[in-house]
Amino acid sequence: MSVATSPSPSPSPSPSAVAASAPSPSAPLRLAVIMGSVREERFGAGVTRWFTGVAGRRAGLETEVIDPAALPLELTGPSERPGEATARSLAALRPRLADADAFVVVTPEYNHSYPAGLKNLLDWHSAEWRAKAAGFVSYGGVSGGLRAVEHLRQVFAELHAVTVRDTVSFHNAWGRFDGDGLAGPEGAGAEAAAEKLLDQLAWWGETLREARRRRPYTG
Ligand SMILES: Cc1cc2nc3c(=O)[nH]c(=O)nc-3n(C[C@H](O)[C@H](O)[C@H](O)COP(=O)(O)O)c2cc1C
Repeated sequence: MSVATSPSPSPSPSPSAVAASAPSPSAPLRLAVIMGSVREERFGAGVTRWFTGVAGRRAGLETEVIDPAALPLELTGPSERPGEATARSLAALRPRLADADAFVVVTPEYNHSYPAGLKNLLDWHSAEWRAKAAGFVSYGGVSGGLRAVEHLRQVFAELHAVTVRDTVSFHNAWGRFDGDGLAGPEGAGAEAAAEKLLDQLAWWGETLREARRRRPYTG
């Protein structure tokens, strides 16, 4: 199998290259749903399936799932000479992240923050996040993963992304999910919360896509 390597010092394309890839305003908004957990048997798989189910029923939205477990990146952080496996993962990941107009991160809470694998994915990329919208679906114990979300907001600000206010959060999430869906009457409430998040994400995602199309983000 051939391997794509990154010849430039920065592993990401320039911001203007990202701007140039912005499609027309009438195109569906491209939403990348990023799984925060890479654990085997991760609970997050069911949460992700539930959320993409809600997102998939919306008009004007094209949703795809980014699973870092399938595209591992070495822990050295961004490097000009990534190893073969990382180069392969980057070649698959970069265009998908660059093409996205907005992101939703589905994250658990690990020791009051978000998982290391998620940070690694964020750190390996740069221009792909810039001037785009991001939202969060979280799960955990009593905190519902909200401490992970608050930490992620700081990271996305550094990456020049705009995070939306509303979050979908599942506290004591275990047992709430039944197969691919939400057990019990709380399903409707969670769906309403997801719709609100997606409303905000669509507004920011479309606004920023149009802004990138008109003028490259140089911040
Ligand atoms: C290393 C580690 C740290 C954890 N820390 C927290 C925590 O601080 N707060 C919390 O609510 N749950 C915590 N948990 C429990 C996770 O929320 C729970 O294991 C969840 O299923 C993890 O999501 P995943 O299965 O999708 O990886 C922790 C789990 C692990 C593995």
